[in-house]
This record gives sequence, C-alpha cells and structure tokens, in this order.
Amino acid sequence: MSPVPVVTIDGPSGSGKGTVSRLVARHAGWHLLDSGALYRLVALAGARAGLGFGDRDAHAALARSMDVTFGTDSGGGERVLLDGRDATDAIRSEDCSRGASRVAAWPGVREALFARQRAFARPPGLVADGRDMGTVVFPEAELKIFLTASAAERALRRHKQLKDKGVSANLATLSREIAERDERDSTRPIAPLEPASDAHIVDSTGSSIDQVVGRVLMLGRERRLWR
Ligand code: DC
Repeated sequence: MSPVPVVTIDGPSGSGKGTVSRLVARHAGWHLLDSGALYRLVALAGARAGLGFGDRDAHAALARSMDVTFGTDSGGGERVLLDGRDATDAIRSEDCSRGASRVAAWPGVREALFARQRAFARPPGLVADGRDMGTVVFPEAELKIFLTASAAERALRRHKQLKDKGVSANLATLSREIAERDERDSTRPIAPLEPASDAHIVDSTGSSIDQVVGRVLMLGRERRLWR
C-alpha cells in the first residue's frame, strides 16, 4: 500500500460522484479532492481575467498560478476561494460547466493541475473525485470506483439540484448539454473519461445515494481501508 491510501471515484456529470465522494471521505475521516472544481476554477479565473476563449497558454498559466482555498464557512458549508474571492456559487454556473469541459481538453491545463491534485494526498487518506483520478492522477490508488447512471437519470438529478437552488432550468436543454459534455469528455485525446482497467463499475441508476455509498464503503472495508 502507498504511504497515503487513495480511493478514486470517477464518472460522468450527474452520476452522483460528488455526493458519494463527500460521504465516503466523511466516513473515513479522509481528505477530499473535487478535481472538477479545479477545472471550473481555471475557467472562472480565465473569465475574470478577461481571457479570450482560445487562449490555451494563458489558461495553463492561470492553472499553475491561481490561489485556491477549499474551506468551510461558519455554518459548516463548503466554500471555495479563488485568489481570495469567494467562487463557491460562480463555479457551479452552467457557463462555468461549459468552460471547464473546454479547458479540461487542453493538455497544458491538465499538466498544470496534475501536481496540485497529487498534493491533496495527505495522511490519513484521500478520496479523489473526477474523470481521470484512477487512470492518470492516482493510478496507484487502493480502490477505484467508476460511477455511472443513465443519461436520462443524470439530467433529472441535475434538474432537481438546480430547482432546489431556485434556478429554473429546462430539462431538454440540460439533457442536451450533459450529452455534449459527455461526448467532449469521453472523446478528447488526453485523459478521456473512461474506467481504469482495475476499476469497479457501479451503476447508480435507480439506486439511492445511501445504497451507492454503502456499496463503496463495503468495497473499502474488504480492503481494510476503514471500518
Ligand atoms: O465534475 P465536474 O462536473 O465538476 O467537472 C467539470 C469539468 O471538468 C467536466 O466537464 C470534466 C472536467 N474534468 C476533467 O476533465 N477531469 C477531472 N478529473 C475532473 C473534471
């Protein structure tokens, strides 16, 4: 086992990996890496700096230099700061989702984020959530999960999430955007969304979060990663 145990949870948007990863990390008392947030922050940093959308080198430079803090507010809610300014809600906008998926296809940006992501592996352990955690960033991970769900169910979950936040959204548009993002994330030449050869594929269609978390916790228990 490597000095710091790592569990990777990869999968497409809306598969539930963010929630599952958070709950697994909480159960284990481990650190959490939301790698998608880093790609979203690069897109946001680019927009805040007024960069043109095709400017790959400048985005890669921002990926290296941006100052990112993941923390909690006084109510225990998660907050993300970008260069000292709150970015928690801004990175979840549909604009940022689209921007993140685009900048994530650029090798310079991925390279710049590689070391940042590896640095999250600190004792007692790390749960890493993303697209290429098990294939590229933590190939040595003790346990790799690839979480899927049907495209229709993922669009419905996203729709509900936005509605709960008071954001109106059109289900057909969301479905189309999710399909476009899936296509771009899965077909890009570098670090495409695909399961590692040693990943456990977990399909969450029709399952509750608790059921999925239970399955992941059981797999971790079998490997003596936690109780
Ligand atoms: O998980 P998310 O929706 O927050 O991710 C935002 C975008 O970042 C998504 O379109 C794919 C990209 N991404 C990536 O390419 N590699 C990762 N490890 C995580 C996210």
